[in-house]
Amino acid sequence: MLDSNFFHYTGTTLCCDEVSLEELATTFGTPLFVTSRRSLIDSYQIFELAFKLLPHFTCYSVKANYNLSVIRTLSELGCGCDVNSGGELYRALQAGVSPEKIIFAGVGKRADEIVYALQSEVLMLKAESLSELRAIDRIAGELGKRAAVAIRINPNVTAETHPYITTGDSKEKFGIDELELPSVFSLFSQLPNLKLVGLDMHIGSQIFDPEFYLAATVKLLAIFKASKELGFAIEFLDIGGGFPVTYDPLKPATPIECFAEKLIPMLLPLGVKVIFEPGRYLVANASVLLTRILYKKSNHTGKQFFVVDAGMTELIRPALYQSHHEVQSVTFHDETVVADVVGPICESSDFFARHRAIPQAEEGELLAVMSSGAYAAVMSSNYNGRLRPAEVMVNGSEVKLVRKRETLEQLVQNERL
Ligand code: LLP
Repeated sequence: MLDSNFFHYTGTTLCCDEVSLEELATTFGTPLFVTSRRSLIDSYQIFELAFKLLPHFTCYSVKANYNLSVIRTLSELGCGCDVNSGGELYRALQAGVSPEKIIFAGVGKRADEIVYALQSEVLMLKAESLSELRAIDRIAGELGKRAAVAIRINPNVTAETHPYITTGDSKEKFGIDELELPSVFSLFSQLPNLKLVGLDMHIGSQIFDPEFYLAATVKLLAIFKASKELGFAIEFLDIGGGFPVTYDPLKPATPIECFAEKLIPMLLPLGVKVIFEPGRYLVANASVLLTRILYKKSNHTGKQFFVVDAGMTELIRPALYQSHHEVQSVTFHDETVVADVVGPICESSDFFARHRAIPQAEEGELLAVMSSGAYAAVMSSNYNGRLRPAEVMVNGSEVKLVRKRETLEQLVQNERL
């Protein structure tokens, strides 16, 4: 069981803060994402405390959960935003984040997105290729602006994590190759509309071992030194995100303090502002996906299935990355049964748990799929004609609907016969 101060049993009922999940399901229906506002605040504060000694700026990577209320909660605490598209920039601005607290990333920015970012006057754009630097320079020139850019380095460090979410390796598309850096630095003399303000990296996600950060940071520091010698005045060193969370109590995440302990001594003497881009760390354990058991069934092999009303359309992580999410019953049960928890989608990969001890809940009861705050709602889809679920945010005893459930009309609204 995943213990948290924010999702806990009161008596025999699983609650978020002071609100029973049973009550939320009755009011808002299922599937439903339930987010604890206090948990978001708590994670941000723990992160900030860990890096307190280092002059830094934390930019929440909104791709993890771009609900406007989630972004606003974090930005009200002083957090900036890392956005990866025009759409995410729009969301951050709509949530009330000031543009000078937004950094714009992305391996394939379109011209219209570059225009949007420059016109919005974001803090900087992080470029990932020589061609992109030329494109930003041209567009900035057309707009009569000087664009603040960082270059994203590919440090060629293979962080141990799921292969789909390692990004700092030379076989991946991300960043600029180390060997190309001399050409990048000399290119700046031909690009009058750019100002190089930062060096950036992001080596992957859900990385448990701080050593990978160290290896990549050593490379970033060598590049920083070289850039200084060439006369560039680098203001920002962006270390990226990727800090881990606990999904499975048997595999607890390395505490953030262990990353801070290693990184601070390396970064503090440089006298630059360090940027962090945590996504998952701030939001993963702040939400659960609440779902109702529709049917229970078994087959001749003795296999048992709980068929629930949420599926891979709401949380694709088990299907895509074989990731573990705890499944708890909203009404506490002592007894468990080994079963698969599966959704209604016509794919065999549509499951939340396989061959796992699941609380012996009955048809009609509620299950909570834990740690569903990061890369869940944002990766949801209308596949199989599914409606994206409602989302609520709980703050103590207060409940706010922060996203309405989609309607059948919305499913077809952009189509023309
Ligand atoms: N910065 C950049 C440039 C990124 O690409 C990412 C995540 C982050 C920051 C935030 O990383 P985090 O702190 O959340 O690890 N859908 C996958 C994760 C994909 C991560 C993509 N990039 C999953 O569900 O595990």
